[in-house]
Amino acid sequence: MNLRWLWMLFAVALCSGWAAALSTPCQLRETQYGNVCVCNSSYCDYLEQPDLRDDNQIVVISSSKNGLRFTRSEGSFLGKTILEVQDHQWIDNNFVADAVVVEQNKVWLQFANVPQRFAINVTIKTVQLTVQREKRYQKITNFGGAFTGSVSHILQQLPKALQDHVYRSYFHADGIAYNSIRMSIGGSDFDLQPWAYNQLPRNDPSLSNFTTLDPRDLQKIEQLKRLKAVAKLNNLKIMAAAWSAPPWMKSNNRWTGYGQLKAEYYQAWADYHLKFLELMQSKNMTVWAISTGNEPLNGVIGFFFVHFMSMGWTPWQQAIWLNDYLGPTIRKSKQSQVLIFGNDDQRYTYPSWFRKMRASRSNALDYLDGLAVHWYWDEIFGPQLIDRAHADMPDKLLLNTESCIGDKPWQTHGPELGSWGRGESYMRAYIQDLLHNFNGWLDWNLVLDERGGPNYVHNYVDAPVIVNTTSRTEFYKQPIYYAIGHFSKFLPEESVRIEASTNETESFPQLSVVGFQRPDGSVALILYNGENLPVNVALNDSQRGALSLRLPARSWHTVVYK
Ligand SMILES: *[C@@H]1O[C@H](CO)[C@@H](O)[C@H](O)[C@H]1NC(C)=O
Ligand SMILES: *[C@@H]1O[C@H](CO)[C@@H](O)[C@H](O)[C@H]1NC(C)=O
Ligand SMILES: *[C@@H]1O[C@H](CO)[C@@H](O)[C@H](O)[C@H]1NC(C)=O
Ligand SMILES: *[C@@H]1O[C@H](CO)[C@@H](O)[C@H](O)[C@H]1NC(C)=O
Ligand SMILES: *[C@@H]1O[C@H](CO)[C@@H](O)[C@H](O)[C@H]1NC(C)=O
Ligand SMILES: *[C@@H]1O[C@H](CO)[C@@H](O)[C@H](O)[C@H]1NC(C)=O
Ligand SMILES: *[C@@H]1O[C@H](CO)[C@@H](O)[C@H](O)[C@H]1NC(C)=O
Repeated sequence: MNLRWLWMLFAVALCSGWAAALSTPCQLRETQYGNVCVCNSSYCDYLEQPDLRDDNQIVVISSSKNGLRFTRSEGSFLGKTILEVQDHQWIDNNFVADAVVVEQNKVWLQFANVPQRFAINVTIKTVQLTVQREKRYQKITNFGGAFTGSVSHILQQLPKALQDHVYRSYFHADGIAYNSIRMSIGGSDFDLQPWAYNQLPRNDPSLSNFTTLDPRDLQKIEQLKRLKAVAKLNNLKIMAAAWSAPPWMKSNNRWTGYGQLKAEYYQAWADYHLKFLELMQSKNMTVWAISTGNEPLNGVIGFFFVHFMSMGWTPWQQAIWLNDYLGPTIRKSKQSQVLIFGNDDQRYTYPSWFRKMRASRSNALDYLDGLAVHWYWDEIFGPQLIDRAHADMPDKLLLNTESCIGDKPWQTHGPELGSWGRGESYMRAYIQDLLHNFNGWLDWNLVLDERGGPNYVHNYVDAPVIVNTTSRTEFYKQPIYYAIGHFSKFLPEESVRIEASTNETESFPQLSVVGFQRPDGSVALILYNGENLPVNVALNDSQRGALSLRLPARSWHTVVYK
């Protein structure tokens, strides 16, 4: 009897221990452009959320070009020593050193099998980093990625255990804790073919054939249910957007090209959105937000380059549709709580898009809860355009709703497996947007195949996770995944940005920083060192005190303390 009791206790302890979060390190593999972390059905890397024991503890989570991936270091504000994040090696263009040692700002290289070390003639910069929690800015709402038709198709081919690792890696607190997805209403450019609801019968404004969800959406819903269960995520924020109406509603009767919604179908197109929201709700997949349509300029000026589903809007026309049709239709329905985001297009359309909408229907913007931006031309068009739109409409949410690399003529069309540089592009972009009032970010495809597809337009791009669709036994977490994760994992909803500034005066500083206070009161700072040299950081928090950090070359970090 006693023995059985003990056995049971033991079994319970074992099971709960297993069920509790466990950190497992990255299985690093060198690939063509750098390093990836390899996951298979029985192994994947995870990191428990840092649990801060006392007020002086500081935890630094680090990733680096040389192979750190969510590596944990610890220190104390009470200690006098420097908290040094150790990296594996130090790589110059010409050689690899096994260690880089910094003493009094002098840098020594250490090579294996060579007893002496070599001095290099550089000074390690010390950057003062000042954190002021009393200066507060915007709140975080959501981080996520797109659950496109291509994503759904790739996942469906994988063994269940491997699918689960994708869901857990992205949405569980031990993964990168996404709380949001974007999905298309009908098809998008990442589908196996273009499609919309009620393609048939034609010229049918009552949408008599839009009575159930398409099998492709039903498959997504089954996958999303599994995702929520695996990730223990009750509140998944689903953002939906339509790429195109069925061709019969459009002036050119085609999926793509120069084509707009026919004015006689303005109400039908609003009803189409409402119908989708109702059918999703009937499946317990409540939609959190919709947009007024994906990239409206593709069907007006972008059709020279864009060959996928699109539907054109000018801001003047769209204001009429929003103000007279979509807005009232949603707000007077049982779906009135669904948020509406405007624009859903590139930064260069800001702020003029909204000013033109206002000129066309003075109250149209009242129907918008948020502004949605795509990042594709951010390296050419500065964030000041967003600042102006935000100054016009300070109460509206700001979200980046699409991002990927590989779409430009000068880029590799498809994955650069392991590229740290592509991760750094994301790192710079997230920091910049968060410093300009953004509330969150939705990346594009959660997963793609080795080629960066599949889709019906042979448009191949990169994604944070690449699935081996040949073996169907592995997927690869790229540096992009960890770049995003340094934000999404540590910045839950309701985190508030706080002032975190450095004393660097250069226009291209070595250290970039953005800081937040989380709902539990703790601070999370994201630090990015873009140079091929270590950097010293003299951190001074107005409430916690001061501490020195030493961060390795080409690395990024999330620093967490109470
Ligand atoms: C899965 O990955 C783990 C860790 O790399 C490895 O030990 C194991 O052999 C792999 N399993 C298969 C079936 O390849
Ligand atoms: C180190 O650099 C300084 C300034 O850049 C220069 O004056 C000095 O000669 C260099 N020393 C060596 C040993 O190269
Ligand atoms: C920034 O502060 C650090 C530490 O106080 C100091 O060593 C460094 O010279 C300062 N940099 C500038 C540009 O003032
Ligand atoms: C309704 O749509 C389906 C495809 O989703 C099509 O097969 C069917 O013919 C349509 N019905 C009518 C009456 O057009
Ligand atoms: C939705 O959830 C409710 C309440 O939990 C449940 O009764 C109902 O069966 C669910 N519907 C579907 C389609 O899963
Ligand atoms: C996918 O798996 C196959 C079979 O194991 C292997 O030959 C191939 O190199 C893998 N692809 C990538 C991108 O690693
Ligand atoms: C930290 O900043 C405070 C002012 O907020 C200042 O009084 C203190 O001297 C600073 N500490 C260090 C070590 O720089």
